Amino acid sequence: MAERDQAVQRIPGILRDTGWTVVLVGEEQSGKLAQVTAGLRREPDPSGSGKLITSGFSYWGLESTVAWAHACNDLYYPVMRESIGSFSRRLRAVADRLPAGPLHYVSLGPGTGQKDQALLRYLDRQGRTGYYIPVDVSAEMLRLGQREALEHLHVPPADVLPVQLDFSLPANLDRLSTLVRRVVGDEPVVYSLLGNTLANFDSDTPLLTLLAEKLLRPQDRFLLEVASTAGQDEQAARAAAQEYENSPRFREFVTSALMQYTDLQIDLNSLTCEGLVEDDRALLVRVVYRNRTGGTLELTLPDRSTVLFPDQDTIRLYLSRKYTRAGLAKMLVDARVSKAGETHEVGHTAFDRPAFGLALLLLQGGEAVPGPATGPNPFRD
Ligand SMILES: C[S@@+](CC[C@H](N)C(=O)[O-])C[C@H]1O[C@@H](n2cnc3c(N)ncnc32)[C@H](O)[C@@H]1O
Repeated sequence: MAERDQAVQRIPGILRDTGWTVVLVGEEQSGKLAQVTAGLRREPDPSGSGKLITSGFSYWGLESTVAWAHACNDLYYPVMRESIGSFSRRLRAVADRLPAGPLHYVSLGPGTGQKDQALLRYLDRQGRTGYYIPVDVSAEMLRLGQREALEHLHVPPADVLPVQLDFSLPANLDRLSTLVRRVVGDEPVVYSLLGNTLANFDSDTPLLTLLAEKLLRPQDRFLLEVASTAGQDEQAARAAAQEYENSPRFREFVTSALMQYTDLQIDLNSLTCEGLVEDDRALLVRVVYRNRTGGTLELTLPDRSTVLFPDQDTIRLYLSRKYTRAGLAKMLVDARVSKAGETHEVGHTAFDRPAFGLALLLLQGGEAVPGPATGPNPFRD
């Protein structure tokens, strides 16, 4: 028999000619179900610190992906809409600090892909686009985001390498780092973690530390986007929670995971968004589902086991934060990264509301060299 190309060598041609996409699956998906189940088996806790669905699982699966795309367009959920709408402008403010020449782009959690399109378009216009590697726990999100990210651009399909993987696990980051280095060699990479995704994790500082430690080489950069607050009191915390409370589409999104992983009859009135002050570092928003039926319910979980859900018990569905200037500065020091560029926009505020904003930071590995503070304080009211 004549010598044949290996099937994998034919893939670039197939991608170019047919519009198919590939996804590299970086971890065993069945193990993920055990993780969701463990979160939902935790002891009853009416304070909201017991049962939970952790960050990645809020987005995993088709229902959650579609619900997230809808939430991002909800007029009543300004956090994401404004962050997507203003991204191109904010990116321009830091883009001249990116490494010169061709640049590979690894997007951690691309979501709907609109911000990735802005970054890729910026590189494309200058003829500097390298490989595009979106990384997400959700295969459906990867497919949706990739389509949007590449629209009207000249990125060859074979230069796009989507990876399905949970980037919050150290072993997964080792695997990702090996893959990226084998693909790009010594050329520089810009990583991104946008849309305040870092704030969704209980251990936000340890996650940033891990990402920097495992991924960032001296020639690489890391674009981090987080929500910020100038106010740090109970009133500000309540206002932060209200941003989520007011959005019907966000409510559908956060409960979609509950619909996928349990057989609970969902009552949207049992959902509360609580705003708390997290020391001097951030305002914390917890979205919690509370059993208000007056009786104990029995939930069936993905492995067909059951768990009791007593009256007033809670399931935490979502976590978010808005960081103070001090909180963000400390997080960067603790994660041993420093700023190579920064832009910070404060949103419109009514006279009785605190100033909330969005910070886009271009980071590099290694601690900052101490020096005098320069420029205005963007966190001021
Ligand atoms: C808040 S959205 C941000 C989307 C986008 N970056 C933006 O700014 O519009 C979070 C994204 O990260 C992904 N994600 C969340 N936790 C993850 C995890 N542990 N591993 C991989 N992806 C995760 C979600 O699927 C989603 O695409």
